[in-house]
Amino acid sequence: MLSVRDVLEKTIARFAQAGVDSPRLNAELLLARALGLTRGELLGAGDRKLAPDQKAKFDALAARREAREPIDYILGEREFYSRTFVVKPGVLVPRADTETIVDTLKRELPEAAGLAADIGCGSGALAVTLALEFPRLRVLATDISQVALHVTRQNAARLGAFVHCARMDGLSAVRGRFALIVSNPPYIDPADAEGLQPEVRDHEPPEALFGGKDGVEVAARLLVQASERLAPGGLCLFEHGFNQGQVMRRLAAQAGLRQARTVQDMAGLDRVLLARR
Ligand SMILES: C[S@@+](CC[C@H](N)C(=O)[O-])C[C@H]1O[C@@H](n2cnc3c(N)ncnc32)[C@H](O)[C@@H]1O
Repeated sequence: MLSVRDVLEKTIARFAQAGVDSPRLNAELLLARALGLTRGELLGAGDRKLAPDQKAKFDALAARREAREPIDYILGEREFYSRTFVVKPGVLVPRADTETIVDTLKRELPEAAGLAADIGCGSGALAVTLALEFPRLRVLATDISQVALHVTRQNAARLGAFVHCARMDGLSAVRGRFALIVSNPPYIDPADAEGLQPEVRDHEPPEALFGGKDGVEVAARLLVQASERLAPGGLCLFEHGFNQGQVMRRLAAQAGLRQARTVQDMAGLDRVLLARR
């Protein structure tokens, strides 16, 4: 029987060979999961032998990671704004960049209240976080993906947030006027697909990644819808690629939004369009 230390060393080498980033961390997380331990407990149990069923369970998880499936899908969860969200194939893994929207809103509109919409809710990371961080908002989450709406409902229920979910293109099926509209639309240029990490290109849903021509075609359409559905003075925050700040400000102006500006993420890169109706 192999020890925890032996299994870790072999797996780290396999993962490195397969091009997995941070092979040690990935191996430790998966072995800890297979053994039902925390990572700290695992590291103190180097001599422990794996029972055959534990080894089989670990091998199945490790094979998925070796095939470059995102670790978050294998573990079934991801942190966003210090909360744990369920994630699974079919929804985008929420990224830290998207927390820029929440932080920006806290600065710009700390007392945000009224009707809010999150277009393209994915796992519900943004919609649920808004509902919990701004209790005076009533949040509608929309997506074209049934899986996304299912996962958003699941996360809202687990985290105790009230979020209304509806399947539609953008906000095409709603009538109300919103005080706030946020979105992290798909914004990768399909021409850049080949350069993406296999974890993203081969495993995350294409409708969550690719934004049409130059990566901004979908965003342009959703900005028009947002502009039509915002109440006068309402606020709009859209995430975008680090090189799309200028084009997003222009698209916002064309959609009839005012005072468009760009907010940087934690790395100092252009990341969020902020504009008013
Ligand atoms: C980049 S993901 C963002 C997911 C989540 N908001 C997050 O930040 O992790 C984009 C999401 O928009 C959805 N989407 C794409 N086009 C859409 C459209 N026209 N209307 C509504 N949702 C759309 C995708 O299905 C996907 O869930």
